[in-house]
Amino acid sequence: VKRFAVIGNPVAHSKSPQIHAAFAKQTGIQLQYDLLPTPIEAFESVVERFFAEGGSGLNVTVPFKERAWTMAQGGLTERARVAGAVNTLWWGDARLHGCNTDGVGLLADLHRLGVDVKGHDVLLLGAGGAARGACAPLLEAGCTRLHIVNRTEQRATELHQHIARELPHYAARLSSGGLNQAQGRWPIVINATSSSISQAAPNLPGMQYMPGALAYDMFYAAHDTAFLQAAKAAGADRTADGLGMLVGQAAAGFAIWHGVTPEIEPVLTMLRAQLS
Ligand code: ATR
Repeated sequence: VKRFAVIGNPVAHSKSPQIHAAFAKQTGIQLQYDLLPTPIEAFESVVERFFAEGGSGLNVTVPFKERAWTMAQGGLTERARVAGAVNTLWWGDARLHGCNTDGVGLLADLHRLGVDVKGHDVLLLGAGGAARGACAPLLEAGCTRLHIVNRTEQRATELHQHIARELPHYAARLSSGGLNQAQGRWPIVINATSSSISQAAPNLPGMQYMPGALAYDMFYAAHDTAFLQAAKAAGADRTADGLGMLVGQAAAGFAIWHGVTPEIEPVLTMLRAQLS
């Protein structure tokens, strides 16, 4: 039986083992999927040992996605290269491969929600690992403008410049600034900050939701996250949390590892029922 795991710190509450077990059952594929708790300083050695001992694939979560990207330099997919972060690792042809399926998971979830970014401006909050994976897929899906704002403005500028260098044909659609530069009326606002973990919402002076606008939080919880509560109060007509994105990124990883694309919806329904 092939062995997989999710590596992170903390990782105890990860839903990945459950999601991959459900996909395995659904597709009739045998696999083992474990939690791999790892001290911050030991990431590289734990990954090396996992694959040296015959492991097949790893999901990478906070705070290791950038270090996974560095480790997989010899086998990055285009998506991972552009993102600068890796959430899916596997071993093949005597080398480590890395992909970033976060953005694919996000776009799949927006599709499920009936939201098409094509022809719309998107406001992206955050410039960390979660934001990185989303930029290229949002641009490729046809958003007319991608405005990246972050508490630390410098990180937003860096992410903006990185994406503009990697994808120069989209450079004219990109802009960035601090959280105080989110002014305007937005049809789609995506929170890729980790603020909801500490039950806070980014402070966005002058930011308004257009009628019918979607507020999307990559974070998820049993109840509305702090960001989604603030969005409702500020007039967002539609809100969604990131549970669907989580299942979507896992489905894309499962497809890479097993060559079969599982169904997202039944697994999402199961997880949602457990949350509440
Ligand atoms: P992740 O992989 O979850 O993106 P990260 O790389 O540590 O983790 O990034 C966290 C993001 O959330 C950053 O954009 C961070 O802003 P800074 O770059 O200024 O640190 C943002 N963030 C965290 N807490 C926040 C808060 N309370 N308000 C606004 N932004 C916050």
